[in-house]
Amino acid sequence: MQTGNGSAMTRRAFLTKGSSAALAGTVLMSNISTFAADAGKRRRVAMVGTGGRGMFWCGEILKNYSDVVDLVGLCDNNGKRVAAARNLLGTTSPTFTDFDLMVKETKPDAILVTTMDSVHVRHILRGLELGCDVISEKPLCTDERQCKEILKAAKKSANKIIVTHNARHYPEAKKIKQMLMDKALGDLISVDYHEYLNTSHGSSYFHRWHRLKKNSGTLLVTKACHHFDQVNWWVNSKPIEVVARGELRVYGRNGKFRGTNCRNCPHTKECCYFMDITKNQRLTKLYADCESEDGYIYDSCVFSMDTDIYDTMSVIVKYENGVTFTYTANAFLPYEGQAIYFNSSKGRIDWNTYSGGDYKNKELRLTPNSGKSEVITDLQYRSGGHGGADSSLQDMIFREPDAADPLGLRADVRQGAMAALIGIAAYRSIERGSEVVKIADLAKI
Ligand SMILES: NC(=O)c1ccc[n+]([C@@H]2O[C@H](COP(=O)([O-])OP(=O)(O)OC[C@H]3O[C@@H](n4cnc5c(N)ncnc54)[C@H](O)[C@@H]3O)[C@@H](O)[C@H]2O)c1
Repeated sequence: MQTGNGSAMTRRAFLTKGSSAALAGTVLMSNISTFAADAGKRRRVAMVGTGGRGMFWCGEILKNYSDVVDLVGLCDNNGKRVAAARNLLGTTSPTFTDFDLMVKETKPDAILVTTMDSVHVRHILRGLELGCDVISEKPLCTDERQCKEILKAAKKSANKIIVTHNARHYPEAKKIKQMLMDKALGDLISVDYHEYLNTSHGSSYFHRWHRLKKNSGTLLVTKACHHFDQVNWWVNSKPIEVVARGELRVYGRNGKFRGTNCRNCPHTKECCYFMDITKNQRLTKLYADCESEDGYIYDSCVFSMDTDIYDTMSVIVKYENGVTFTYTANAFLPYEGQAIYFNSSKGRIDWNTYSGGDYKNKELRLTPNSGKSEVITDLQYRSGGHGGADSSLQDMIFREPDAADPLGLRADVRQGAMAALIGIAAYRSIERGSEVVKIADLAKI
């Protein structure tokens, strides 16, 4: 693999190639303006990781932000996938399998990191070294060592890291933040959060690289970091202690039969997790046709024996300000949804969202201890991925980088770290027989 293994030359050094400082490898980044501090300027963005999420980001940039953003390069360690991505996107952006070469040739202001979770760290660190801002998909990192490395590099760098925690941008999430800031129901005492993943969405993580802890940090990092970030933001405090339980009850070794992948499996008729990738042209071009390069199988058996993540999880988090947060997630249910409750000194906020077949419910409710319970309806929905949350986040990054942010929607490196660290602490707790894990023992935030 070429990515991330190049010389220690910074982007500034690329720009001043030949100077003695550059030859000495000195990091000269102090006068490079950050992505956000240069409002009005067209931004040059290069992307690494041209899978599903990367394609989504690029599609949005090309469709909605081409007046302010130039997509200057696409990189993936799979040469076939990056070529397929370029064709599917219909862009003329150059493609690379070597990250350093992409940065050297395309001179981006920012790197958009949409690679597999456990390799975000490489592109974040190298992006900063090369003098670029970094827009990283969640999770920021998958273990405590990566977390410390990123925090250290961010402290030294003049460039910025933005973590794309889009779940803050749901209209209900913003309304809740406002109500908590206004202390509409007094002091927040505890939060209960239940995450329900259906058989299709839940199993998708067990078909792919996420099923291995070394790639994803388990669903407690790759998936739950969304929820942990929301709660960190709502509670407006620092998580200090985590205790967790996790089990694998449905997928992996629990299967009564197994194959290698769905396409060549003899059990398709009896398997409720069967997916037919060949019915989807885009997935076929992006994944099945590219397997020869890296062996990445998109429709691996959900009952693979090497699966070492959990499908059933419970976590309790204690915050510095005294709030207790209780979280559960199950990844094999008949419907998708979330039940999130805020228990406050003067009442409760309930946010319920379920959806599956004929069972649907979407309601944000405020119930004071004394007075009438009311459903909140003044919510502003917009179109776009994840119920418009992605568009809200992208506007903030690309169109309004310096706009006021009264709700604190922007997630920086510290907040990305805090969200990932709860998940990391949770899987460490599970590894240690549900021991209490102190966040400060993992990294200083
Ligand atoms: N915010 C959200 O709502 C959201 C939704 C989906 C995915 N994500 C995140 O986006 C990221 C990508 O997820 P995805 O579903 O697109 O996965 P994916 O497997 O479809 O894409 C990942 C891509 O990274 C490439 N890659 C892996 N290692 C690499 C390396 N060392 N160098 C260069 N490229 C490398 C792979 O070849 C693949 O093309 C993940 O971090 C995931 O957690 C976020």
